[in-house]
Amino acid sequence: MQSEPNTRPHVTVPSLRAMKQRGEKIVVVTAYDASFAAAAEAAGIDVVLVGDSLGMVVQGNDSTLPVTVDQIVYHTAAASRGLDRTLLIADMPFLSARDVPTALATSRRLMGEGNAAMVKIEGSGWASDVIRALSERDVPVCAHLGLTPQSVHKLGGFRVQGREEAAAAHLRAAAREVEDAGADLLVLECVPSPLAAEITRELRIPTIGIGAGVDCDGQVLVMYDLIGLSRGRRPRFVKNFLAGNDSIVGALSAYANAVRACTFPDAEHSY
Ligand code: KIV
Repeated sequence: MQSEPNTRPHVTVPSLRAMKQRGEKIVVVTAYDASFAAAAEAAGIDVVLVGDSLGMVVQGNDSTLPVTVDQIVYHTAAASRGLDRTLLIADMPFLSARDVPTALATSRRLMGEGNAAMVKIEGSGWASDVIRALSERDVPVCAHLGLTPQSVHKLGGFRVQGREEAAAAHLRAAAREVEDAGADLLVLECVPSPLAAEITRELRIPTIGIGAGVDCDGQVLVMYDLIGLSRGRRPRFVKNFLAGNDSIVGALSAYANAVRACTFPDAEHSY
């Protein structure tokens, strides 16, 4: 069967900010290889993230900490071969952005060998210094705040962040800080919906929520969660979009439609 030629425009770093300005939702999904990335592309997903979640869903670890730069480079290069117009982001694994020289070397590999258009860094404070250095050198950066899985041991588990007023104020300040440092995008993970909505209104850069409510500028889900392959405890924000659909591309299209129609996440999948 001949497939239709893909005529939608390339998703670029500037076009993400333009989407926020137009009030168009940004749809993101993780993928770790060419076939799943191609399915995301076919479904009209805007951004594919090669997340260090691969350490859990692909490798079977209890956390993302064992993932190495070599592994992210390998999976990013593989995912890139399945994409044409979809923007590709690669995660900086645990301690691979710990200081500016290390972060520059990691970015060079993720973008040069992996073909990513943007790198993702968890945290603020020290991470904002790194974001500034990368941004000044034209490395596009996605920041990641709220539940930052690489800090799981400090946080005492995978828990919702920013529930108390002091923690919420800290999160609001951190969001402004990463934007001022030059971040192009911000993932907010497991944050109460009203707080995520407030941060989204305050920032010029788009926010991408996962467990952060419907008012973020976009949403991200882990591919395996989206097709019902989650193992162990399922976080509240997870929804199986393969239920009621007969293919992975169909599930991804249903997810994209739900995000664009603001019907996902609903209250049942938010905090
Ligand atoms: O590693 C990952 O997949 C992530 C997303 C869940 C945001 O960081």
